[in-house]
Amino acid sequence: MNLKNLGIKKINFGACDGTWMKNPYGDELVSINPTTAKPIASVKPAGPGDYEQVLTTAQNTFKKWRMMPAPKRGEIVRQIGEELRKFKKELGTLVSLEMGKIIAESEGEVQEMIDICDFAAGLSRQLYGLTMHSERPGHRMYEQWHPLGTIGIITAFNFPVAVWAWNAAIAAVCGNTMVWKPSSETPLCAIAVQNICNRVLERHNLSGVFNLLIGSGDRVGEALIKDKRLPLISATGSCEVGRHITETVSKRFGRVLLELGGNNAAIILNDANLDLAVRAILFGAIGTSGQRCTTIRRLIVQKETTDELIKRLILAYRQVTIGDPINSKTLMGPLVNKKAVNTMFDAIETIKLQGGKIIYGGTYGKTVVDNCGFFVEATIVKAHKMMPIIQEEIFAPILYIIEVSDLEEAVEVNNNVPQGLSSAIFTNNLIAAETFLSHRGSDCGIANVNIGTSGAEIGGAFGGEKETGGGREAGSDSWRAYMRRQTCTINWLNDLPLAQGIKFGE
Ligand code: UN1
Repeated sequence: MNLKNLGIKKINFGACDGTWMKNPYGDELVSINPTTAKPIASVKPAGPGDYEQVLTTAQNTFKKWRMMPAPKRGEIVRQIGEELRKFKKELGTLVSLEMGKIIAESEGEVQEMIDICDFAAGLSRQLYGLTMHSERPGHRMYEQWHPLGTIGIITAFNFPVAVWAWNAAIAAVCGNTMVWKPSSETPLCAIAVQNICNRVLERHNLSGVFNLLIGSGDRVGEALIKDKRLPLISATGSCEVGRHITETVSKRFGRVLLELGGNNAAIILNDANLDLAVRAILFGAIGTSGQRCTTIRRLIVQKETTDELIKRLILAYRQVTIGDPINSKTLMGPLVNKKAVNTMFDAIETIKLQGGKIIYGGTYGKTVVDNCGFFVEATIVKAHKMMPIIQEEIFAPILYIIEVSDLEEAVEVNNNVPQGLSSAIFTNNLIAAETFLSHRGSDCGIANVNIGTSGAEIGGAFGGEKETGGGREAGSDSWRAYMRRQTCTINWLNDLPLAQGIKFGE
């Protein structure tokens, strides 16, 4: 792969505001390849001076950018999509190299970026407001949407490029400028994306719309969430981090858009098509090595089907090739880092203590490359609905099987966790499917029938309820989160009637 095409030429990078900084600050951040546990490159993070420079640039650019008609902004975002099409392979490979997901999924992630750019380009002509009939004669009422200003985007390692794009493409057509703090695990992916954006903006004599600040959560993240100049912080991460972000941003009356932990279940009823269910479960539980926020973590299975399902799942799990994510034959790459491996094995100990039975995996992966990457075996656990650990999101390929007697119990177990991102049911029974989708069914932001919990399209609003944070990103009308609503009333006659029929001083 030629990383030069992505602007990755030297090993040191600084923060960026359209032009790369000469003397960034602090200790180098080393980007590790999880497949080999060896460094790929090191990055100099942003310091306080860099931070101010980037924020000022983003704020000044906003004054210009908001004056450009939205469809013109949409055209620039469309061109970013075009540039991403050209570099889909390279950027996809970099994602695999830096965070370990398999190449098919990495390219899928870049495809999500392309799709959201297309979506945003169309959206740029559809930022509609409503008009209302006024109760007063000679009055017109309507609402319009204005950009917010400069927004902060904080992203996680597991989708190092797509989740930024969901936010950035929409926020940009809405007229905002933005500052991105990527995960410290994936700075190179962010640098590559920044280079792609810079290239497109240069053609239009622009810079400072998309900005990057690489640095730790303690330094850069904290500065962003406390910064009164940022009216919106859109963040992806754990529930714990999300809680801290909400508290900090709310204290200054800023807005948050959160996409936090998931603890997603798929319900398998007795009448499910098991061929289809097993394929969907495999992708949902093993995809991205169990590190998607939409990963299937719990299988809620109707009793009579458990044995057959387990038999088929074990057969399928045995076929999973674990190894170098860049090899197109691999189905599961490594976990992102050593800490993630330790978390998985700590969880396995707790599972055993709480009475869970490991029926597949539960060990380190046979390390394929140099005997050293962060590989684990995909793991299946026969669990019980009362085990406390199933309330937690463990970011690893651990799949719990929980037996239930009927749909009612299945829905109860589905909803009985603090998180509320995604959910699925496998059934050929219309009444069961519709019950699951009804107000007495799944309480999650996403509810699917006969497909898994992960792999959402960008056209829908993405996000979840409860401790998942309530935010909605990507498609549908999620754009409203990036704009402020203004209600306008215009009096076009020479009289001054008051609302509610009030007579005042007449
Ligand atoms: C995430 O894991 O943070 O639905 C996002 C999916 C992907 C996005 C996941 N389209 O699995």
